[in-house]
Amino acid sequence: MRSMVLVLGAGGGLGRALVRFFLLQGISVACVTHSQESLDSLKDEFTSFNSLFSSTESFDYCDRTLSEAYVRRLASGNDGNNFPCLAIYSAGYLSGRQGLVETPINESDREIDVNFRAPLFWSTLLSRHFVELGRGGHLFISSGVASNPRPSWGAYGIAKAGVEALASQLSLDLPDPLFSLSLNPGGMSTKMRQIAYPEEDRKTLPSPGETGTRIGRFCLELMKGRGREYNGNKLGLGDIG
Ligand SMILES: NC(=O)c1ccc[n+]([C@@H]2O[C@H](COP(=O)([O-])OP(=O)(O)OC[C@H]3O[C@@H](n4cnc5c(N)ncnc54)[C@H](OP(=O)(O)O)[C@@H]3O)[C@@H](O)[C@H]2O)c1
Repeated sequence: MRSMVLVLGAGGGLGRALVRFFLLQGISVACVTHSQESLDSLKDEFTSFNSLFSSTESFDYCDRTLSEAYVRRLASGNDGNNFPCLAIYSAGYLSGRQGLVETPINESDREIDVNFRAPLFWSTLLSRHFVELGRGGHLFISSGVASNPRPSWGAYGIAKAGVEALASQLSLDLPDPLFSLSLNPGGMSTKMRQIAYPEEDRKTLPSPGETGTRIGRFCLELMKGRGREYNGNKLGLGDIG
């Protein structure tokens, strides 16, 4: 059986770095980006890896109808052999750094939708297939503000705390050998980080490529059958070597 990873939020930052890592390892990747621009540039960058790209599409992964249809397409045919064995939730949205009280409610809603509600929906849907196939796991990308709330992180921080709780809850509900865990990647010089800290010198931070390689290596361990060892863990980058 060919290993396949699903990367949600593959268009930029950490998600794209993970796609690069897996493709270089010869691992097939299913990608969801939000914008058509990200999808086009992803395909341009990895044009020589075409045969490893499976179901690479752009849509708003908060849209349940589109998301359900995408998962159905992944599951159809080849007795589940084309279904991912690992789902990585890397999509993220931060409207800006301001307090909950000042943030327009539609922006808070969007932060909850992208960072929490969509991972809840997708992981429930994917888990049903994982259970049926008797394999599979979830890696949720968290953030330091989940367990260490700080001023002006608003609904983003609340959503990330929810994602860590989601990872824990699933870990209790999934049968062995299925698994679920969360990982805080730490600061990276990405578009989101620039929104959070516009004055920051980007050179002082790890690139998404550096962090993506570390997380990618860890994912290989999860995919080799060590997922259950980490089931329910809330990890930081320092925990994965
Ligand atoms: N950067 C940091 O310092 C840092 C620190 C801690 C945690 N994190 C977490 O790490 C993860 C990756 O962050 P990043 O810094 O790489 O962010 P990023 O550069 O902003 O990339 C996020 C990606 O998510 C995609 N996305 C956003 N909304 C989406 C939607 N509705 N449907 C589908 N895709 C969507 C975007 O797609 P398009 O490109 O198509 O628009 C974008 O490529 C996030 O979960 C973030 O919360 C980041």
